[in-house]
Amino acid sequence: MRKRIANPKANIIKKGVLDMAKVSASVFTSHVPAIGAALDMGKSQEPYWQPLFKGYEFSKQWMKDNKPDAIFLVYNDHATAFSLEMIPTFAIGCAAEFKPADEGWGPRPVPMVYGHPELASHIAHSVIQQDFDLTIVNKMDVDHGLTVPLSLMCGEVDAWPCPVIPFAVNVVQYPVPSGNRCFQLGKAIGKAIRSFEQPLNVQIWGTGGMSHQLQGPRAGLINKEFDAKFLDLLINDPTSAAAIDHMEYVREAGSEGIELVMWLIARGAMSDVDGGPAAELIHRFYHVPASNTAVGHAILKNN
Ligand code: DHB
Ligand code: FE
Repeated sequence: MRKRIANPKANIIKKGVLDMAKVSASVFTSHVPAIGAALDMGKSQEPYWQPLFKGYEFSKQWMKDNKPDAIFLVYNDHATAFSLEMIPTFAIGCAAEFKPADEGWGPRPVPMVYGHPELASHIAHSVIQQDFDLTIVNKMDVDHGLTVPLSLMCGEVDAWPCPVIPFAVNVVQYPVPSGNRCFQLGKAIGKAIRSFEQPLNVQIWGTGGMSHQLQGPRAGLINKEFDAKFLDLLINDPTSAAAIDHMEYVREAGSEGIELVMWLIARGAMSDVDGGPAAELIHRFYHVPASNTAVGHAILKNN
């Protein structure tokens, strides 16, 4: 579908917008490991879990109806692939495949994650040229931070629906990146995807959160008001969401609530923050409790 431009002598062939990759939607979801365990142990219809999985029924159908060609999945590693020996702030998985990690109970019985080395390398090149420092990862196991969102959105499947590019953000060991840094990085990733010369439909996912604290005297903290405000801002006023500072996350959303900065990467890749038409809210869901965590979820369609 190449479009010839009017200069037959030079025989220049210019790529039209239809030939380029696009960001078709962004997906936001928590990644609680107990959700993966509930699925893997056949407990999803138990009274504790049933209301949570019900909130993802729409999303699973939407995924089937809007199958992407690739998913750029922003998540955090929980000292699984990385440790205190090496802590990249932003790491992009450029490998052809990523094994589900053994987090202490054996790997989850979920499909292998196949990457998209060509698109990942393009994004790495483009984003680094846009002045963001990324760590290139060519071998990495992926933990619940990545596999639980895939399970929630795709269900129990023999193969994930498309290639997945893992993008790991350090939100575990201080210092962690600010929400605004993540939002700006998301803009750069959006530009990178849109400059890939293949007509791919790419979804970008931001995962982790919502409010939760797993440690210290405030362990168990959930803040429904903060979560609702964050979702409102994320959807309608992402620039204000990006201005939430580090201490506010820790104070209001708990020490592990800082995982929410990853949602701003996905939000930053949407066209509306770059002068395009407004994003369309397709689905919004919130549920407490899931283990120690408030679960939030939204789908935004790019227009
Ligand atoms: C829980 C939540 C997390 O985000 C995580 O990484 C580990 C545990 C929890 O709610 O138990
Ligand atoms: Fe986590």
